[in-house]
Amino acid sequence: MWTDSGWTRRRFLVASSAGAAGLWLGGCSGSDEPRRLVEASDPSVAERERQRSAVGGVRKSVELVAGVLSVDLAGRVVRTVGYGGLVPGPEIRLRAGDELEVRFRNELGAPTTIHWHGLAIRNDMDGVAGMTQPAIAAGESFLYRFVVPDPGTYWFHPHMGLDLDRGMYAPLIVEDPAEPGRYDTESVLVLDDWLDGIDGASPEKTFRELSNGNAMGAMGDMHGGGTGGMGGTGGMGGTGGMGGRAGGDGMGSMGDLGDVVYPLHLVNGRPREDAMTVAAPAGGRIRLRLINAASDTIYRVAVGGQVLVVTHLDGFPIEPVQVDAVSLSMGERVDVVVEPGSGVWPIVAVAEGKNASALAWLRTAGSAMATPAVADRLAEHDRRVLDVGTARATEAVAFEPAAPDRTVNVRLTGSMMDYRWGIDGRVFGDHRPLQIESGERVRLVFRNETMMVHPMHLHGHTFALAGERGARKDTVLVRPMQAASVDVVADNPGQWMVHCHNTYHLEAGMATELSYVQ
Ligand code: C2O
Ligand code: CU
Repeated sequence: MWTDSGWTRRRFLVASSAGAAGLWLGGCSGSDEPRRLVEASDPSVAERERQRSAVGGVRKSVELVAGVLSVDLAGRVVRTVGYGGLVPGPEIRLRAGDELEVRFRNELGAPTTIHWHGLAIRNDMDGVAGMTQPAIAAGESFLYRFVVPDPGTYWFHPHMGLDLDRGMYAPLIVEDPAEPGRYDTESVLVLDDWLDGIDGASPEKTFRELSNGNAMGAMGDMHGGGTGGMGGTGGMGGTGGMGGRAGGDGMGSMGDLGDVVYPLHLVNGRPREDAMTVAAPAGGRIRLRLINAASDTIYRVAVGGQVLVVTHLDGFPIEPVQVDAVSLSMGERVDVVVEPGSGVWPIVAVAEGKNASALAWLRTAGSAMATPAVADRLAEHDRRVLDVGTARATEAVAFEPAAPDRTVNVRLTGSMMDYRWGIDGRVFGDHRPLQIESGERVRLVFRNETMMVHPMHLHGHTFALAGERGARKDTVLVRPMQAASVDVVADNPGQWMVHCHNTYHLEAGMATELSYVQ
């Protein structure tokens, strides 16, 4: 475990953009008097945690090791890294209000951290290297301990380098003590695009290829900010040429939806040729908790012959909507309920713009039907697709209707050309934090000025899509040359990442901070 004495947080903003006057004020006030940052170690962070623990859950304690492992991908055995010897890592499951204690050991041979995606937890447990904690060095341990406030489907992954494009991800399911129980069984399906170790591909090599033509000398600056760096667990791949750029010849739209060609797409660590089966009772209702843990792929998911009742987005409930398919960008979760009667049905996750898909089967008890051949795309994929923008948060979780105290534009910038993705024209480390004060309600308007999609993720909060009873979410997809507006209620003091959840865009610098000040 680390203590405050072991490190000092780098003050990028002082160094890079404050000039003589002190801190940049993000346009939130006319005053130029320097503001005090509410750091992860601030007493208000612990105070907020005391409020969360007042509900009085139990403590759930788990051991977790990150290390090198082998996975068998339908006969292709590759070495990669992961949690608990598995891909995905072992699920953590607890109830809202419980305190999670994770005794974590890093056996990767490289530094790492764990970020608990989507959970509004205490800032010093958020797992951003160099921002909320120092990186956990190779061979070291770290004790994560925090109260989990909200029920829902979440997940965890490192917040350093490119390890997320290896096997380092796992579901974190927070059960609702007041679950309305509109289903009989449930299954967690984690989607992932895979290249690590296939024909010598590695995330580092992929990132180098993407950045090709970019002066490598500039990279040091881009990574200096602290989300990590190239370090990771590199050097594991061999030589070879997978993981090249997507797009090109006659596939104009492809560049918009993903940068990287992946040889495999997985559901719960299994490629199409070795698809897993979700066993379900005949005639029951099954809740599927879908998690997109991919680095560069949006998936559109449908279940053959089934209507999907969408109940939750990013863990939070919406007024149920009936659709035929749902789309999830990187980092997003969607919960759906299906009622398949009896039989066997394909669950197909189309990799948007990539001519490929991931597959699993849904089989009800007693069905002896053989699994039929299944195409990359079902008819359902082109019927009613969930429109997140029209989804309505349930009354229990909707924000009070109110105008924001102020609006902040967040421009998403960059291009494939030099692969220098950023925010407001700056890369992380040279960024200007978005300042906020506790109690404010701020509208962030993500304006995508690029030709790529960017799933924008905010740590420590579940914002609401702007509009009447907009869905509560922590990740929102912003399409090329479009804007997305989200309202943030500042109720969780600290320093929080705001970034694109494309692993390669993040590595290239597409991140800033939501920075509480006093
Ligand atoms: Cu899942 Cu900072 O991200
Ligand atoms: Cu992006």
